[in-house]
Amino acid sequence: MRKQIVVGNWKLNGTTVLCHQFASGLADYKGSVELVICPPATHIDCLAGAASAHHSKVGVGGQNVAAQFSGAYTGEVSASMLQELGACYGIVGHSERRALFGETSEMVAQKANRLLEVGMTPIICVGESSLVREGGEHGKFVGRQVTEVLSRLAPSVESAVILAYEPIWAVGTGNTASPEQVQSMHAHIRAVAAPFINSVATRVLYGGSVTPDNAASLLELPDVDGALVGGASLELDKFLAIAGGC
Ligand code: PGA
Repeated sequence: MRKQIVVGNWKLNGTTVLCHQFASGLADYKGSVELVICPPATHIDCLAGAASAHHSKVGVGGQNVAAQFSGAYTGEVSASMLQELGACYGIVGHSERRALFGETSEMVAQKANRLLEVGMTPIICVGESSLVREGGEHGKFVGRQVTEVLSRLAPSVESAVILAYEPIWAVGTGNTASPEQVQSMHAHIRAVAAPFINSVATRVLYGGSVTPDNAASLLELPDVDGALVGGASLELDKFLAIAGGC
């Protein structure tokens, strides 16, 4: 049985005040859905510390991680550094990092491996552009992204990953994928991942303009195990309402 999980990706947003607001606001959460917030790296310790002070069960994650362990990589933050601050998850392969920072599937796999080596859970994002979907190549494209990353993971630790389908045309646009599009892609991702990981046990999240209004119709789908939420995760009531839809 896969436990549903809702992950908030704050991107380049958030303050220490917001960390405290979420930590205290989620302290009374009694639902069965696992909740995770990924603030900027600078705010991980604040959120993790506040969550622990409030006995709040919210998990904390990073939005990115260095592909290396340590060394002369100015500006990078390693998996063990994120972990030391209190992060248990790390988003890798987000479409913004692939498009704006030139991250390749090989780099995404290296980052995922660094997280797995320290016992953190990578949330591996995949998703096609509108051009690819209009050309009818979305299944093949996303399947290739999944294979390119999973085939490079260290064999002993593969099963601990989370996958996230985030069509680029749905991220931050208000154009959510339809339940039919989501279910069919998630089933495809699970099938493509099967040679590499225990894909029946692996959680596959949907991301892309998830809101309290559309969450329930997406999260009830058989192959959807939760959501990766950007914009709506910056407001506590919206984040909680999305989790309530699981
Ligand atoms: P969005 O972002 O919910 O604002 O569309 C999702 C994401 O980028 O993970």
